[in-house]
Amino acid sequence: MKVILLMAMTADGLTAKNSSEFVDWTEKEDKKIFVDVTKRSGAVIMGRNTYKTIEKPLKNRKNIVYSKSVKGEYPDQDLFYTSEKPELLLKKLETEGFKEVVLIGGSEINTLFARSNLIDELLLTLSPVFFGSGLTMFTDKIEFDLKLKEFNRIGSDSILIRYEILK
Ligand SMILES: NC(=O)c1ccc[n+]([C@@H]2O[C@H](COP(=O)([O-])OP(=O)(O)OC[C@H]3O[C@@H](n4cnc5c(N)ncnc54)[C@H](OP(=O)(O)O)[C@@H]3O)[C@@H](O)[C@H]2O)c1
Repeated sequence: MKVILLMAMTADGLTAKNSSEFVDWTEKEDKKIFVDVTKRSGAVIMGRNTYKTIEKPLKNRKNIVYSKSVKGEYPDQDLFYTSEKPELLLKKLETEGFKEVVLIGGSEINTLFARSNLIDELLLTLSPVFFGSGLTMFTDKIEFDLKLKEFNRIGSDSILIRYEILK
């Protein structure tokens, strides 16, 4: 099972101004990549703060939302809350036939998966904004060595960067 971490980042390395802000500061080409990559995989994993910002399940994708306080499964909406160990969740998704899943933030859930060394690829859009302060990709000290696989200019002022995480 391949786990792709898909995030947009400001030019000063931030991912949000705060925990409740919807990401509306990327170019439309980044939004298209988000849709293409998540639809190709068919499954997205996110934390509940991130889910609250997007407000409804992403269509035509299995939506897995990490929460300790909210439980429930809503197959009619393709929405599943979970608090299980990431390794177990990935095994379950594999038995359901998924070959890759996309981790779409935020910082807490990224950290949960990174601590278990489960992220295989980072797909980052460096966006033409600067916040000065805010959230970063992880909430804790996380160290990776990366291999640059690809970078492309997208839209008018953004860069899409794909790194493999070396394990
Ligand atoms: N730039 C980007 O590409 C990007 C992408 C995604 C998100 N974001 C931004 O990031 C911000 C949200 O990030 P965040 O770090 O505050 O929150 P988050 O990671 O989205 O969600 C945190 C929540 O996940 C649940 N959780 C955490 N650890 C858990 C565990 N071990 N087991 C089960 N549930 C667990 C808890 O939910 P409960 O409180 O319900 O227990 C916790 O409050 C938003 O502003 C969002 O817009 C940016």
